[in-house]
Amino acid sequence: MFGGKAFGLVALATGVLSAPAKRQAPSGVPDYVLKYAPVVYLHGQDPYMPSDLNTHISHTTPRVNFNAVSAPNPLDLNSLNQLGGDVYLTSNDDITTIPQWLKGVRPDGNGKTEGTTAAVIVNDKGNGDVDAFYMFFYTYNWGGEVLGLRSLNFGNHVGDWEHVMVRFKDGQPQAVWYSQHANGQAFKYSVTEKHSDNLRPIAYSANGSHANYAIGGTHDHTIPNFNLPGGVLEDHTAKDIFWDPLQSSLYYKYDAGANSFTAYDGTSPVNWLSFSGRWGDQEYPTSDKRQVKIFGQAKYSSGPTGPADKQLNRNNVCPDNENDCILRGILVPRSAEFDAQVFAEDVVQR
Ligand SMILES: *[C@@H]1O[C@H](CO)[C@@H](O)[C@H](O)[C@H]1NC(C)=O
Repeated sequence: MFGGKAFGLVALATGVLSAPAKRQAPSGVPDYVLKYAPVVYLHGQDPYMPSDLNTHISHTTPRVNFNAVSAPNPLDLNSLNQLGGDVYLTSNDDITTIPQWLKGVRPDGNGKTEGTTAAVIVNDKGNGDVDAFYMFFYTYNWGGEVLGLRSLNFGNHVGDWEHVMVRFKDGQPQAVWYSQHANGQAFKYSVTEKHSDNLRPIAYSANGSHANYAIGGTHDHTIPNFNLPGGVLEDHTAKDIFWDPLQSSLYYKYDAGANSFTAYDGTSPVNWLSFSGRWGDQEYPTSDKRQVKIFGQAKYSSGPTGPADKQLNRNNVCPDNENDCILRGILVPRSAEFDAQVFAEDVVQR
């Protein structure tokens, strides 16, 4: 058998040899944007992992009101912006059959996903004020079940853009925004749970919905005008699967004045960021046998718009909307009262 020393050496050598090539962030990306980038924990029961943007596009057809429209060939991250804002990138498969591509790519043991599953967008506002948006893409959003009942499953959709934003002052992280459904939560950076390096904040991605939470565990959210007893939907998060989005990300600088994007490496596709249509199917009509609609809640809702629509030039750390922006100085779970305000537009954008 191996002696302790020899075994240690073998383990060390194997570790070095099997270390995957990390995608290097291009030069020019501020070091603090990388140093304080969030890491994500995915739920172990979530069938719908982060997804490669090109794989997603290749399984869809641009449609307007369910009719195919002319599209650039090839349709990819360089040409997506040629499509109109009324376009829905619509699944070529019946999604109720759960084709493999809906499930995305599971991170490997080092937290790396194959392909491009994330984008980092940096808005330097001057005077040391920098907002870094870490955009996460999943091909499918499973909306969860009200009261845990299979017959009350709503808000499923193709295409799911989520984000965490870290606000910096002079290179120091100040606050972290976690997107959750139509809104989210803001915390002071100092109180967020950190990765093992004690620098990178942790985001817990909820099973199916991929809402980002600062705290692990179960999070309730009620739906206004939804008159079911309890009317409760739960997001479940767990420290199960480690994902480091930086390892499969593209990096962009955002110029708010010109509303334009530049790739830090000068070569990554940029045009897709100007696509203003939807990243998934349009809400199926009730005449479609897959669709179920109860009290105005659709089982299958429309896919979301892309990263450019996430208020990249916001004043507060929260998006500017009708909700109060509460910058929490302690780690507290999401509350039902807070949630009641933020769920109203859930179907519109998440
Ligand atoms: C996670 O989501 C899957 C379906 O997407 C569901 O079958 C499973 O019950 C969920 N688990 C939890 C703990 O929510």
